[in-house]
Amino acid sequence: MSSTPRSVTDWWRDAVVYQLYIRSFADADGDGTGDIGGVRARLDHLVELGVDALWVNPWYPSPQVDSGYDVADFRDIDPLYGTLDDADTLVRDAHAAGLKVLLDIVPNHTSSEHVWFRAALAGDAGARGRYHFRAGRGEDGELPPNDWTSNFGGPAWTRTTDADGTPGDWYLHLFAPEQPDLDWDNPEVRGEFEDILRFWFDRGVDGFRIDVAHGLAKEPGLPDVGPDWTGSTEELHPAFDQDGVHDIYRAWRKVADSYDPPRIFVAESWPPSSERLSLYLRPDELHQAFQFDLLRAPFDARVMKAVIATSLHDTEGVGASCTWTLSNHDVVRQVTRYARSQPPALVDGPWDRRRWHEEPADLELGLRRARAAALLMLALPGSVYLYQGEELGLPEVEDLDADRREDPIFARSGSLDVGRDGCRVPLPWDTSAPTYAFGPEGGAAPWLPQPADWAGLSVAAQAGDPASTFELYRSALRLRRERLVDAGPLAWLDTPPGTLAFGRGSLTCWLNTSDHSVALPGGRLLLGSVPGMDDRSLPVDAAAWVDTT
Ligand code: GLC
Repeated sequence: MSSTPRSVTDWWRDAVVYQLYIRSFADADGDGTGDIGGVRARLDHLVELGVDALWVNPWYPSPQVDSGYDVADFRDIDPLYGTLDDADTLVRDAHAAGLKVLLDIVPNHTSSEHVWFRAALAGDAGARGRYHFRAGRGEDGELPPNDWTSNFGGPAWTRTTDADGTPGDWYLHLFAPEQPDLDWDNPEVRGEFEDILRFWFDRGVDGFRIDVAHGLAKEPGLPDVGPDWTGSTEELHPAFDQDGVHDIYRAWRKVADSYDPPRIFVAESWPPSSERLSLYLRPDELHQAFQFDLLRAPFDARVMKAVIATSLHDTEGVGASCTWTLSNHDVVRQVTRYARSQPPALVDGPWDRRRWHEEPADLELGLRRARAAALLMLALPGSVYLYQGEELGLPEVEDLDADRREDPIFARSGSLDVGRDGCRVPLPWDTSAPTYAFGPEGGAAPWLPQPADWAGLSVAAQAGDPASTFELYRSALRLRRERLVDAGPLAWLDTPPGTLAFGRGSLTCWLNTSDHSVALPGGRLLLGSVPGMDDRSLPVDAAAWVDTT
């Protein structure tokens, strides 16, 4: 055991982590895609914002079929983003700026261009054993081995062709066909990933976000889900959240704990319940797992309060802390989610983009609610992950032309689902046209077009303006550090319908999602989500932090 003090080893428990979607953060070399040079040049933004750490989406060599979640080599950097030396320098720069660095590991699948899968397709029996190859059903094996569908639409199986040109076995891919699933029952797969963890930990990386963390273990025999499967996130699927997954993370935890200070993991896991999510957080498993229920919640105090109470209860039950987030690179940005009428309960997934498109969006209302939701989230006990651009109040870009959409979901759903490109549009840094300084002057156009009306949302336009969303986040992060980090657990207050309030230490957080303003019970207003609020009443669609000392 290390003798490092608890504050150093447990930094993650209340950390604010900034998700850096590297292809859209900042482009230093002018090719239209963000890169490591861009991140280094803009690290100050994260320091000014006041976060503790950054998480970088996959930056490994990749054919980029799924924006880097199709990894061809887990031990290098895609030339699009830079070199391994650049990565080392970034880790050093970030540490010097007081920021921890988390990477994104993708253990459920590799790219079809990974050497293992290429060898498997070439007939190497050892390599085939690292994936799920199966004979097809039907007389000539012409039907997929089971009835699973891909998360991106279409069947979860693709048939291969044998060397003599005849149709061969099928292989499993829970996502795109270019993302074949690994077989985690194979000890070579387990050994390889523990080695990959060490490769990056040895370079000073502080931890990993684990992609599709609940997908690695499959139910033995890969049984059909059957005709009654509705696709709801509340049901257990034979490909997800199987008990066998926990052994994998116990082994990973040992690797992380062998470093001083220990390295950490955060799971992207979508089990059927918050109770099952907490199993990933047992003391010998992972440190954090995103509580996606808050992100799935409508802007409704009753639903939000229930989600928070359940998450706190289940996580504390295993001695862990909560990990909150309102957005990421897979979901509709919260400004746009909250800009329409709100569903009565949790949405099955904010990837349910069809639903959000059905009525016009009132983005002013959405932003007002998003600012309130941010104050709610940032007052909660536990850790918070922010997605780049939410500190600027960026909306989803919903009107991208079909020929500019890159997300495989768009094509695989037969364009029924527009996909995730709308939350991945490159950041606006300055008011200068045409790329808002995302790239250097004279550089290529950004890989996705930026809306013509984003100048006012840029960092330069907002910095120093006390009414801006950027300054609201900055103030909240500063107050959070000063008043909330050591404030201990939350105590709910009795409040009128459509509102919620809780105290933590001497700070009380109020949220009003009802249709009329409510009186605040006294105290000094520390921060309000609506510019110009006073300490006597809380307007509609607003939140307040009140000092009650
Ligand atoms: C995760 C990622 C998502 C990716 C998928 C497949 O859900 O967040 O972006 O497409 O896994 O790797």
